[in-house]
Amino acid sequence: MATQQVTQETIVQHIERDHRKTDTQIAELEMRVRGQGDDSQDRVFLPMKQELLAHMAAEEKLLYPALERGETRDLITDARKEHDRIRKHLEELAAGGTMEESEWRRRLEMMKQEIRHHVADEESEILPAARKIFDEQQLHELGSRFERMENEYT
Ligand SMILES: [Fe+2]
Ligand SMILES: [Fe+2]
Repeated sequence: MATQQVTQETIVQHIERDHRKTDTQIAELEMRVRGQGDDSQDRVFLPMKQELLAHMAAEEKLLYPALERGETRDLITDARKEHDRIRKHLEELAAGGTMEESEWRRRLEMMKQEIRHHVADEESEILPAARKIFDEQQLHELGSRFERMENEYT
């Protein structure tokens, strides 16, 4: 008999799926214009902000501590700084209600570049390092804890 299929994503799969969702949300934001009674940009931005904050908090709690030593230590130090900059961008964009559309878009572009760089580091170096230190079962367990933590984030 076949063994029971494991359906829970690993933490690596979950994080990569979140990253693709952020790409989609940013692309959607770029297509929209604020104001003139159209709140569609907020309807994309505000959930995206919440999801990104939850994603970063879960990474900082469940993923980064295990890699904060040896050859990945500097990578994690940089990643934490990048998270802080992304949080700052999110706050500025959220507070940008009266900002000129062009200025808002300029800042969105800055955040997009920061996120792109950060995601590339995570996917090329941090996640492969996690695959080395955790076994399959741990990766799945961390995946479900990651999902729970994101869902509980407020
Ligand atoms: Fe991430
Ligand atoms: Fe991250």
